[in-house]
Amino acid sequence: MVAAPVAPAGEGAAPRSPGGPLIALTGVERTYTSGSVAVHALAGVDLTIERGELVAVIGASGSGKSTLMNILGCLDRPTRGTYVLDGVEVGQRGNDARAIVRNRLIGFVFQGFHLLARTTALENVELPLVYRGVPQKERRQRALRALAQVGLADRLHHTPAQLSGGQQQRVAIARALVTDPPLLLADEPTGNLDTRTSFEVLALLQALNRDAGITIVIVTHEHDIAACASRVVTFRDGRVRHDVRNAQALDASKALADEVAASGEAP
Ligand SMILES: Nc1ncnc2c1ncn2[C@@H]1O[C@H](COP(=O)(O)OP(=O)(O)OP(=O)(O)O)[C@@H](O)[C@H]1O
Ligand SMILES: [Mg+2]
Repeated sequence: MVAAPVAPAGEGAAPRSPGGPLIALTGVERTYTSGSVAVHALAGVDLTIERGELVAVIGASGSGKSTLMNILGCLDRPTRGTYVLDGVEVGQRGNDARAIVRNRLIGFVFQGFHLLARTTALENVELPLVYRGVPQKERRQRALRALAQVGLADRLHHTPAQLSGGQQQRVAIARALVTDPPLLLADEPTGNLDTRTSFEVLALLQALNRDAGITIVIVTHEHDIAACASRVVTFRDGRVRHDVRNAQALDASKALADEVAASGEAP
């Protein structure tokens, strides 16, 4: 169960534009300059993502996928072009304004989980709420709910070392969800996981997208994983080269069941 994706009072809630796309990038460029060398990591990206989409971003190493995610996540700014998120131009805002938008609208999941090592699953998930000054009792309730949502209600007091890779990634997803963001950004979330565990994580992301209406953008190198998305955007040399709707997205929980059956093992 996910609460409506609205920031609770006291967390800088602001009116949203109810219509319009969630994400609109227009002519976005990002140039990194080191010494006399300029790298055009993004070289003119136009990309619109509607609310409720599950988009996979694929492309060769160095094609600009993580640069895109950093901009979408308000961690970085375009060198040129505009980024409108939830009806508001955020690309040219300063660090503080972007931090507010990030806290209100965006959850992140990374390849390497980024959990605190000597800290339990429950405490890891509570952390974003600690930073927001949410009172302890509410923090605990929301973290419990998020961990139940990712199927880890029975691992609350385990530290990351006591969890499998897939479980650690699920804790990281719970941590991203605990603030009820409407947008989840995942940069290679299955990059450190085996095939079966990858499908487990994807099944969870598909369920969150379908049942809670969370818009998800996921970067992946794996075509099986991209096939689970309803839209696949391919980057090459900092530009969108293909943008394909996938009406027959692969059901990750079914792919997982097939994988288990093929291996002849118990689930
Ligand atoms: N901080 C930086 N300074 C300079 N160049 C950078 C920086 N970050 C990325 N780049 C360059 O920008 C280009 C795009 O990098 P990016 O990390 O977005 O690629 P990617 O598609 O995510 O690749 P990968 O699949 O390997 O993660 C690359 O050529 C990279 O070398
Ligand atoms: Mg990358």
